[in-house]
Amino acid sequence: MKITERGVWLLWATLAVVSLLYYLTSLGRRRRCSGSGRPLPPGPRPLPIIGNALDLRGANLQHALARLARAHGDVMRLQLGPSGAAVVVVSSPAAAREAFARHDRRHAARVVPDAVRALGWADRSMIWLPSSDPRWKALRGVVAAHVVSPRSLASARGARERAVRGLVAHLRGRAGREVEVGRALYAAMLNLVSSSFFSVDLVDMDSGAEAAGVDFKGKDYEFIPFGSGRRQCPGLPLAELVVPHVLAALLHAFEWRLPDGVPAEQLDVSERFTTANVMAVPLKAVPIVITKSQV
Ligand code: HEM
Repeated sequence: MKITERGVWLLWATLAVVSLLYYLTSLGRRRRCSGSGRPLPPGPRPLPIIGNALDLRGANLQHALARLARAHGDVMRLQLGPSGAAVVVVSSPAAAREAFARHDRRHAARVVPDAVRALGWADRSMIWLPSSDPRWKALRGVVAAHVVSPRSLASARGARERAVRGLVAHLRGRAGREVEVGRALYAAMLNLVSSSFFSVDLVDMDSGAEAAGVDFKGKDYEFIPFGSGRRQCPGLPLAELVVPHVLAALLHAFEWRLPDGVPAEQLDVSERFTTANVMAVPLKAVPIVITKSQV
């Protein structure tokens, strides 16, 4: 059979109309109802295949989300990716409280990217397993009992102190010269966290430094850097010890100057979102030795 030019044109036109109708009806369905038949929150209109990807353009994810929340409300729906996953973004302490305190169990799953699934992490890693999975519960239990319990943290104290001394020694070796602070800290933190997992040191228990007046442990929804609820960061007790320890050591051992006499007010402190929020321009500073004492 010979297909005429007119026939091809008709075929394309039919396909285009069918796709458009499908898109419009699925859009209407999606906007109105979740899988359970309940209404979904308002949000920017998604495009076919790419969903709301264009609404999130720009270097700074949380700025884009804040801008969208101003237009659509502090509980808003976004469509991410072709899989059709609807993501609900909460943008106020009251909405976060409602989500974490009242509906935590239902929100404690993660959208697993195909790349993570292909690498086999989806069914082995605490980060990706659903919180209903017994393996997730077992892994959280192991970390709670053997890594961040008061006893385990106490026994790893020596290893932590060695890692911090290593960092200070490294910076002493570079005193008077410009260092990329984040890079130096990253290496030390990797040492420190891995030694916390594998340390067999047994020494006295150290006292966690309390940040006066600020609750960062998931109860004050104004400030939840470690998340909240059942999926909250399991490393919190370790971070709570390590962050003040490292900061104190760096301030005790060195005076810090900005390179080339850059005044502090001119320092670029803008941020960039990767898997976490980092400084868009990595901080460079010059450590000047002010004490020889051990930390
Ligand atoms: C200042 C340091 C840290 C911050 C600000 C931080 C923050 C976070 C946040 C916001 C989450 C996501 C919580 C959620 O999904 O609701 C998280 C999850 C997680 N964090 Fe941390 N974290 C820190 C240190 C650590 C350390 C030291 C470890 C390991 C020893 C760790 C291991 C994890 C793991 C395994 C998860 C995934 C837990 C799960 O999905 O069940 N974190 N962290």
